[in-house]
Amino acid sequence: MITQISKINKESIEQAKEILLSGGVIGMPTETVYGLAAVGTNSEAVKKIYKIKGRPSDNPLICHVHKDYDISKLVLVKNDYVYKLMKKFMPGPLTIVCDSLGVICKEAVCGGDTLAIRMPSHKGCQELLRAVDMPIVAPSANLSKHTSPVTAKHVYDDLNGKIPLILDGGKCQGGIESTVLDCTTKVPRILRAGLITKEMIESVCGGCEIAEHKEGDKVKSPGVKYTHYKPKCDTILFSINEVDKAIKLYDEELKKGRKPYIMCENSLSDKLKGKNLLLLGNTGEEIASNLYDKLLEGEKKADIIIAISFGREDGVYMGIMNRLTRSCN
Ligand code: TXA
Ligand code: MG
Repeated sequence: MITQISKINKESIEQAKEILLSGGVIGMPTETVYGLAAVGTNSEAVKKIYKIKGRPSDNPLICHVHKDYDISKLVLVKNDYVYKLMKKFMPGPLTIVCDSLGVICKEAVCGGDTLAIRMPSHKGCQELLRAVDMPIVAPSANLSKHTSPVTAKHVYDDLNGKIPLILDGGKCQGGIESTVLDCTTKVPRILRAGLITKEMIESVCGGCEIAEHKEGDKVKSPGVKYTHYKPKCDTILFSINEVDKAIKLYDEELKKGRKPYIMCENSLSDKLKGKNLLLLGNTGEEIASNLYDKLLEGEKKADIIIAISFGREDGVYMGIMNRLTRSCN
Protein backbone atom coordinates (compact mmCIF):
# COMPACT_ATOMS: atom_id res chain seq x y z
CA MET A 1 0.00 0.00 0.00
CA ILE A 2 1.26 3.48 -0.84
CA THR A 3 1.00 5.95 2.02
CA GLN A 4 0.17 9.45 0.89
CA ILE A 5 0.78 12.53 3.06
CA SER A 6 -1.64 15.38 2.23
CA LYS A 7 -1.89 18.85 3.75
CA ILE A 8 -5.18 18.97 5.62
CA ASN A 9 -7.71 20.95 3.55
CA LYS A 10 -11.23 20.58 2.11
CA GLU A 11 -10.08 18.17 -0.59
CA SER A 12 -7.98 15.87 1.59
CA ILE A 13 -10.72 15.87 4.25
CA GLU A 14 -13.18 14.63 1.60
CA GLN A 15 -10.71 11.90 0.67
CA ALA A 16 -10.21 10.97 4.34
CA LYS A 17 -13.97 10.88 4.89
CA GLU A 18 -14.42 8.43 2.01
CA ILE A 19 -11.70 6.14 3.35
CA LEU A 20 -13.12 6.25 6.90
CA LEU A 21 -16.72 5.64 5.83
CA SER A 22 -15.65 2.64 3.75
CA GLY A 23 -13.91 1.02 6.75
CA GLY A 24 -10.36 2.30 6.27
CA VAL A 25 -7.82 3.72 8.71
CA ILE A 26 -5.97 7.04 8.33
CA GLY A 27 -3.50 9.25 10.22
CA MET A 28 -4.97 12.50 11.57
CA PRO A 29 -3.52 15.48 13.41
CA THR A 30 -4.77 16.60 16.83
CA GLU A 31 -3.44 19.30 19.16
CA THR A 32 -1.71 16.64 21.35
CA VAL A 33 -0.24 13.90 19.10
CA TYR A 34 -1.23 12.36 15.75
CA GLY A 35 -4.00 9.73 15.89
CA LEU A 36 -4.69 6.56 13.91
CA ALA A 37 -8.36 6.99 13.08
CA ALA A 38 -11.27 4.67 12.21
CA VAL A 39 -15.07 4.86 12.56
CA GLY A 40 -15.85 3.65 16.09
CA THR A 41 -18.97 1.69 15.20
CA ASN A 42 -17.19 -0.43 12.58
CA SER A 43 -15.64 -3.54 14.23
CA GLU A 44 -13.61 -4.52 11.16
CA ALA A 45 -12.10 -1.04 10.85
CA VAL A 46 -11.29 -0.95 14.56
CA LYS A 47 -9.58 -4.37 14.39
CA LYS A 48 -7.32 -2.92 11.68
CA ILE A 49 -6.09 -0.26 14.14
CA TYR A 50 -4.96 -2.92 16.64
CA LYS A 51 -3.28 -4.91 13.89
CA ILE A 52 -1.47 -1.94 12.32
CA LYS A 53 -0.11 -0.74 15.68
CA GLY A 54 0.57 -4.16 17.19
CA ARG A 55 -1.50 -2.93 20.14
CA PRO A 56 -2.45 -5.30 22.99
CA SER A 57 -6.12 -6.23 22.61
CA ASP A 58 -6.97 -5.23 26.21
CA ASN A 59 -6.08 -1.56 25.76
CA PRO A 60 -9.20 0.48 24.81
CA LEU A 61 -9.33 3.41 22.39
CA ILE A 62 -10.39 7.02 22.85
CA CYS A 63 -13.43 8.15 20.87
CA HIS A 64 -13.09 11.56 19.17
CA VAL A 65 -16.07 13.78 18.33
CA HIS A 66 -16.56 17.33 17.01
CA LYS A 67 -17.48 20.08 19.43
CA ASP A 68 -21.20 20.13 18.70
CA TYR A 69 -21.58 16.35 18.90
CA ASP A 70 -24.17 15.30 21.48
CA ILE A 71 -22.17 12.94 23.72
CA SER A 72 -25.39 11.68 25.38
CA LYS A 73 -25.70 9.50 22.26
CA LEU A 74 -22.56 7.64 23.39
CA VAL A 75 -22.36 7.76 27.19
CA LEU A 76 -24.40 8.17 30.34
CA VAL A 77 -23.14 11.16 32.32
CA LYS A 78 -23.69 10.43 36.03
CA ASN A 79 -21.88 13.36 37.62
CA ASP A 80 -22.67 17.03 37.06
CA TYR A 81 -19.03 18.08 37.29
CA VAL A 82 -18.61 16.55 33.82
CA TYR A 83 -20.58 19.39 32.23
CA LYS A 84 -18.45 21.98 34.05
CA LEU A 85 -15.29 20.27 32.80
CA MET A 86 -16.63 20.13 29.27
CA LYS A 87 -17.51 23.81 29.33
CA LYS A 88 -14.07 24.79 30.55
CA PHE A 89 -11.69 22.36 28.80
CA MET A 90 -13.41 20.87 25.74
CA PRO A 91 -12.54 21.05 22.93
CA GLY A 92 -9.00 20.55 24.24
CA PRO A 93 -6.57 17.98 25.60
CA LEU A 94 -8.96 16.38 28.14
CA THR A 95 -10.44 12.88 27.75
CA ILE A 96 -13.40 11.97 29.97
CA VAL A 97 -14.26 8.36 30.83
CA CYS A 98 -18.00 7.76 31.37
CA ASP A 99 -20.41 4.79 31.29
CA SER A 100 -20.76 3.57 27.71
CA LEU A 101 -24.15 3.15 26.07
CA GLY A 102 -22.66 0.45 23.83
CA VAL A 103 -22.85 2.37 20.53
CA ILE A 104 -19.10 2.11 19.96
CA CYS A 105 -18.11 -1.44 19.02
CA LYS A 106 -16.83 -3.77 21.74
CA GLU A 107 -13.41 -4.14 20.06
CA ALA A 108 -12.74 -0.41 20.65
CA VAL A 109 -13.57 -0.60 24.38
CA CYS A 110 -12.14 -4.12 24.79
CA GLY A 111 -15.46 -5.37 26.08
CA GLY A 112 -15.47 -2.81 28.93
CA ASP A 113 -18.50 -0.84 30.08
CA THR A 114 -16.93 2.63 29.93
CA LEU A 115 -16.00 4.86 27.00
CA ALA A 116 -13.30 7.55 26.83
CA ILE A 117 -14.39 10.67 24.91
CA ARG A 118 -12.33 13.56 23.63
CA MET A 119 -13.00 16.66 21.51
CA PRO A 120 -9.72 17.73 19.91
CA SER A 121 -9.25 21.48 19.47
CA HIS A 122 -7.03 21.15 16.38
CA LYS A 123 -8.85 23.12 13.68
CA GLY A 124 -8.28 20.66 10.83
CA CYS A 125 -9.20 17.72 13.05
CA GLN A 126 -12.45 19.45 14.06
CA GLU A 127 -13.25 19.96 10.37
CA LEU A 128 -12.60 16.29 9.64
CA LEU A 129 -14.77 15.15 12.58
CA ARG A 130 -17.56 17.47 11.49
CA ALA A 131 -17.36 16.26 7.88
CA VAL A 132 -17.55 12.60 8.93
CA ASP A 133 -20.06 13.31 11.74
CA MET A 134 -19.42 9.89 13.26
CA PRO A 135 -17.53 8.98 16.44
CA ILE A 136 -13.91 8.35 15.43
CA VAL A 137 -11.72 6.14 17.60
CA ALA A 138 -8.01 6.84 17.49
CA PRO A 139 -4.97 5.80 19.49
CA SER A 140 -1.69 7.63 18.95
CA ALA A 141 -0.44 6.88 15.42
CA ASN A 142 2.79 5.08 16.38
CA LEU A 143 3.74 1.42 16.50
CA SER A 144 2.90 0.06 19.95
CA LYS A 145 5.63 0.90 22.55
CA HIS A 146 7.34 3.50 20.32
CA THR A 147 7.36 7.26 20.93
CA SER A 148 4.10 9.01 19.93
CA PRO A 149 4.21 11.06 16.70
CA VAL A 150 3.87 14.84 16.64
CA THR A 151 4.39 15.41 12.90
CA ALA A 152 2.97 13.71 9.79
CA LYS A 153 6.53 12.59 8.97
CA HIS A 154 6.78 10.78 12.34
CA VAL A 155 3.57 8.90 11.48
CA TYR A 156 5.01 8.05 8.06
CA ASP A 157 8.24 6.75 9.63
CA ASP A 158 6.26 4.21 11.73
CA LEU A 159 3.32 3.36 9.45
CA ASN A 160 4.53 3.78 5.87
CA GLY A 161 2.90 1.09 3.72
CA LYS A 162 0.26 0.25 6.35
CA ILE A 163 -2.26 3.10 5.84
CA PRO A 164 -3.37 4.91 2.67
CA LEU A 165 -3.43 8.51 3.95
CA ILE A 166 -1.91 10.80 6.57
CA LEU A 167 -3.50 14.24 6.92
CA ASP A 168 -0.73 16.73 7.63
CA GLY A 169 -1.88 19.37 10.11
CA GLY A 170 1.59 20.60 11.09
CA LYS A 171 3.45 19.95 14.33
CA CYS A 172 1.15 19.17 17.29
CA GLN A 173 1.34 22.09 19.69
CA GLY A 174 0.48 20.19 22.90
CA GLY A 175 3.10 17.52 22.33
CA ILE A 176 1.96 14.93 24.92
CA GLU A 177 -1.29 12.96 24.98
CA SER A 178 -4.50 14.19 26.58
CA THR A 179 -5.24 13.91 30.28
CA VAL A 180 -7.46 10.82 30.78
CA LEU A 181 -9.96 11.44 33.59
CA ASP A 182 -12.24 8.83 35.16
CA CYS A 183 -15.59 10.61 35.53
CA THR A 184 -17.55 7.58 36.78
CA THR A 185 -16.61 8.33 40.40
CA LYS A 186 -17.99 11.07 42.73
CA VAL A 187 -14.59 12.78 42.63
CA PRO A 188 -12.85 12.65 39.22
CA ARG A 189 -9.63 10.61 39.03
CA ILE A 190 -6.69 11.16 36.71
CA LEU A 191 -5.81 7.90 34.94
CA ARG A 192 -3.16 9.50 32.69
CA ALA A 193 -1.63 12.92 33.42
CA GLY A 194 -1.48 15.48 30.61
CA LEU A 195 -1.79 19.14 29.72
CA ILE A 196 -5.03 19.63 31.67
CA THR A 197 -3.49 19.40 35.12
CA LYS A 198 -4.77 18.19 38.50
CA GLU A 199 -4.75 21.81 39.67
CA MET A 200 -6.88 22.91 36.68
CA ILE A 201 -9.41 20.11 37.28
CA GLU A 202 -9.58 20.89 41.01
CA SER A 203 -10.32 24.53 40.23
CA VAL A 204 -13.47 23.41 38.40
CA CYS A 205 -14.57 20.32 40.37
CA GLY A 206 -13.37 21.15 43.89
CA GLY A 207 -11.48 17.86 44.06
CA CYS A 208 -9.42 15.56 41.87
CA GLU A 209 -7.67 12.31 42.72
CA ILE A 210 -4.80 10.54 41.03
CA ALA A 211 -5.21 6.86 40.28
CA GLU A 212 -2.37 4.88 41.76
CA HIS A 213 -1.48 1.64 40.11
CA LYS A 214 -0.15 -0.92 42.52
CA GLU A 215 1.28 -4.28 41.54
CA GLY A 216 -1.54 -6.79 41.11
CA ASP A 217 -4.30 -4.14 40.85
CA LYS A 218 -6.90 -4.48 38.15
CA VAL A 219 -5.69 -1.52 36.12
CA LYS A 220 -8.49 0.86 35.24
CA SER A 221 -6.67 2.49 32.32
CA PRO A 222 -4.85 -0.45 30.73
CA GLY A 223 -2.53 1.75 28.64
CA VAL A 224 -0.55 2.82 31.69
CA LYS A 225 0.74 -0.68 32.42
CA TYR A 226 2.60 -1.16 29.13
CA THR A 227 6.10 -0.14 28.10
CA HIS A 228 5.66 3.04 26.13
CA TYR A 229 7.19 6.00 24.38
CA LYS A 230 10.59 4.29 23.80
CA PRO A 231 12.87 5.80 21.15
CA LYS A 232 14.96 3.30 19.18
CA CYS A 233 18.31 4.36 20.70
CA ASP A 234 19.53 3.84 24.30
CA THR A 235 18.09 6.25 26.85
CA ILE A 236 18.92 7.12 30.45
CA LEU A 237 17.39 9.65 32.82
CA PHE A 238 19.23 11.69 35.45
CA SER A 239 17.68 14.05 37.98
CA ILE A 240 18.49 17.76 37.94
CA ASN A 241 20.86 17.11 40.91
CA GLU A 242 22.90 14.69 38.84
CA VAL A 243 24.12 16.95 36.03
CA ASP A 244 27.76 16.07 36.83
CA LYS A 245 26.98 12.36 36.56
CA ALA A 246 25.26 12.98 33.22
CA ILE A 247 28.35 14.84 31.93
CA LYS A 248 30.62 12.01 33.14
CA LEU A 249 28.54 9.45 31.24
CA TYR A 250 28.52 11.71 28.16
CA ASP A 251 32.35 11.84 28.19
CA GLU A 252 32.63 8.07 28.70
CA GLU A 253 30.30 7.42 25.77
CA LEU A 254 32.35 9.75 23.55
CA LYS A 255 35.53 7.89 24.52
CA LYS A 256 33.88 4.60 23.50
CA GLY A 257 33.33 6.12 20.05
CA ARG A 258 29.58 6.40 20.58
CA LYS A 259 27.43 9.45 19.89
CA PRO A 260 25.70 10.76 23.03
CA TYR A 261 23.15 13.60 23.14
CA ILE A 262 22.00 15.34 26.31
CA MET A 263 18.31 16.23 26.41
CA CYS A 264 17.46 18.96 28.91
CA GLU A 265 15.78 22.31 29.49
CA ASN A 266 17.35 25.42 27.95
CA SER A 267 18.64 26.80 31.26
CA LEU A 268 21.39 24.12 31.28
CA SER A 269 22.72 25.02 27.85
CA ASP A 270 25.51 27.30 29.15
CA LYS A 271 26.79 24.65 31.53
CA LEU A 272 26.71 22.06 28.71
CA LYS A 273 28.24 24.29 26.03
CA GLY A 274 29.98 22.43 23.19
CA LYS A 275 28.10 19.17 23.77
CA ASN A 276 25.49 17.56 21.52
CA LEU A 277 22.19 18.83 22.92
CA LEU A 278 18.48 18.26 22.44
CA LEU A 279 17.00 21.39 24.04
CA LEU A 280 13.41 21.15 25.26
CA GLY A 281 12.61 24.82 26.01
CA ASN A 282 12.03 26.86 29.16
CA THR A 283 8.45 26.41 30.41
CA GLY A 284 6.45 23.25 31.13
CA GLU A 285 4.30 23.92 28.06
CA GLU A 286 7.37 24.27 25.83
CA ILE A 287 8.96 21.13 27.27
CA ALA A 288 5.75 19.10 26.71
CA SER A 289 5.44 20.47 23.20
CA ASN A 290 9.01 19.46 22.27
CA LEU A 291 9.45 16.22 24.24
CA TYR A 292 8.48 13.59 21.63
CA ASP A 293 9.86 15.66 18.77
CA LYS A 294 13.27 15.75 20.48
CA LEU A 295 13.17 12.05 21.45
CA LEU A 296 12.42 11.17 17.81
CA GLU A 297 15.13 13.55 16.55
CA GLY A 298 17.49 11.95 19.08
CA GLU A 299 16.83 8.38 17.98
CA LYS A 300 17.96 9.35 14.47
CA LYS A 301 21.15 11.15 15.59
CA ALA A 302 22.26 9.55 18.83
CA ASP A 303 23.46 6.20 20.14
CA ILE A 304 22.27 7.26 23.58
CA ILE A 305 20.00 10.06 24.81
CA ILE A 306 21.07 11.23 28.26
CA ALA A 307 18.01 13.04 29.63
CA ILE A 308 18.09 15.40 32.60
CA SER A 309 14.84 16.05 34.48
CA PHE A 310 13.53 19.35 35.79
CA GLY A 311 13.22 19.12 39.58
CA ARG A 312 9.44 19.58 39.38
CA GLU A 313 6.47 17.24 39.23
CA ASP A 314 3.61 19.72 39.65
CA GLY A 315 1.23 20.99 36.97
CA VAL A 316 2.19 19.97 33.43
CA TYR A 317 5.41 18.43 34.77
CA MET A 318 3.38 15.48 36.13
CA GLY A 319 2.51 14.43 32.58
CA ILE A 320 5.97 15.25 31.26
CA MET A 321 7.69 13.14 33.95
CA ASN A 322 5.26 10.26 33.40
CA ARG A 323 6.30 10.15 29.71
CA LEU A 324 9.98 10.87 30.27
CA THR A 325 10.51 8.18 32.92
CA ARG A 326 8.76 5.61 30.74
CA SER A 327 10.71 6.52 27.62
CA CYS A 328 13.96 6.16 29.57
CA ASN A 329 13.45 2.84 31.38
O1 TXA B 1 -4.18 12.90 23.10
C1 TXA B 1 -4.60 11.75 23.01
O2 TXA B 1 -5.32 11.25 23.89
C2 TXA B 1 -4.24 10.95 21.75
C3 TXA B 1 -4.86 11.64 20.54
C4 TXA B 1 -4.65 10.85 19.27
O3 TXA B 1 -6.23 11.87 20.76
N1 TXA B 1 -4.68 9.60 21.87
C5 TXA B 1 -4.08 8.68 22.66
O4 TXA B 1 -4.60 7.40 22.54
O5 TXA B 1 -3.16 8.94 23.38
P1 TXA B 1 -3.85 6.13 23.11
O6 TXA B 1 -4.67 4.98 22.62
O7 TXA B 1 -2.44 6.16 22.73
O8 TXA B 1 -4.05 6.22 24.66
C6 TXA B 1 -5.34 6.10 25.21
C7 TXA B 1 -5.27 5.93 26.72
C8 TXA B 1 -4.73 4.57 27.10
O9 TXA B 1 -3.93 4.72 28.28
C9 TXA B 1 -6.01 3.78 27.39
O10 TXA B 1 -5.79 2.72 28.30
C10 TXA B 1 -6.90 4.86 27.98
O11 TXA B 1 -6.60 6.02 27.23
N2 TXA B 1 -8.33 4.53 27.82
C11 TXA B 1 -9.05 4.46 26.67
N3 TXA B 1 -10.33 4.10 26.93
C12 TXA B 1 -10.42 3.96 28.27
C13 TXA B 1 -11.49 3.60 29.16
N4 TXA B 1 -12.70 3.31 28.71
N5 TXA B 1 -11.21 3.56 30.48
C14 TXA B 1 -9.98 3.86 30.95
N6 TXA B 1 -8.93 4.20 30.17
C15 TXA B 1 -9.15 4.25 28.85
MG1 MG C 1 -0.40 5.83 22.68
